[in-house]
Amino acid sequence: MSETVFVSEISYRKGEAAFEELSRSTAFRFIPVDEKEESLARRVREEGIRAFVADIHPYRGALYDALPRDGVIARFGVGHDSVDKEKASKKGIWVTNTPGVLDNAVAEHAVWLLGSLARLIPSLHASTRVGQWKPCSGVEVAGRTLAIIGLGRIGQMLCRKAALGLGMRVIGWSRDSPAKFAARLDHSFEEFQSNIGLTEYTDDLEYALGQADFVSLHVASVPATRHLANAGFFAAMKPGSCIINTARGAVLDEIALYEAIASEHIGGAALDVFEQEPYSPADPNKDLRKLANCIMTPHVGSNTKESNQAMALAAGRAVIQVLTQDPHAMKNIVNPSQLTA
Ligand code: DGY
Repeated sequence: MSETVFVSEISYRKGEAAFEELSRSTAFRFIPVDEKEESLARRVREEGIRAFVADIHPYRGALYDALPRDGVIARFGVGHDSVDKEKASKKGIWVTNTPGVLDNAVAEHAVWLLGSLARLIPSLHASTRVGQWKPCSGVEVAGRTLAIIGLGRIGQMLCRKAALGLGMRVIGWSRDSPAKFAARLDHSFEEFQSNIGLTEYTDDLEYALGQADFVSLHVASVPATRHLANAGFFAAMKPGSCIINTARGAVLDEIALYEAIASEHIGGAALDVFEQEPYSPADPNKDLRKLANCIMTPHVGSNTKESNQAMALAAGRAVIQVLTQDPHAMKNIVNPSQLTA
């Protein structure tokens, strides 16, 4: 008899082939469920479910009471801000994620957004489609500076593409001092730098922002990064420069961004993630949709055919590892110490 694992409908549809394969080849049956948290929790309890594969939707309440101790919430994705790790760890529920398998997808999306800003592709597309002929000039990105805010796996992948592929000068920023950052690397700093084409590393945010023609956010959403991109951040950006956010909506203050674009201090923004998803402006008078130079996509950074199958396999395997108490289970367990990281 196989054990049933619930998978959020959205995640299931994205990774259907992989979930089907897991159901065929393991003792677990992955099935889609399309329920709000309360009714999901009721079904979890009634059907004795021990594992749930969660999309980006936040789960904050009943689910933690319903899952048993040693059950698992497996994020279909890398970000785990939508899971209440404190509640999970109090109840003894494991939380897993799928780091690594979506880095390329998100970094590529950041590149496409950067290119869209540089060459004004969305507005050229829109005007040409309605019969206008407005050949506005864009800019070339080769030789221009990109500041990558957050130099984890996805930030590093973007660095490689921007520096080695597009010929950009890349400044990487993280909170760690250069010595602390270097100490965490597997190789020497010089080797790391040349592998990804990084021009310069800094822990000085104002410096990085003051240098950059484009700024791309790649920090996790934790209390310390909430509204990292705020009015002061935008003021520190070079006049006319542009910002890209494929990380999380919570790390960027959308009202401050609206003001920075409307005042023409910054040249534009390309956002894949929002404080409210689907997007809804925090202040109806500061609606980013009204700004022509604000490009928006509906949180699709990791949403590629390739990455969806890989995330499904990784999330499914994590569930199986936890439920069968495989020693490798620790691999993708979200460490409770990341709670305040
Ligand atoms: C992630 O991996 O966290 C993506 O944002 C999609 O969920």
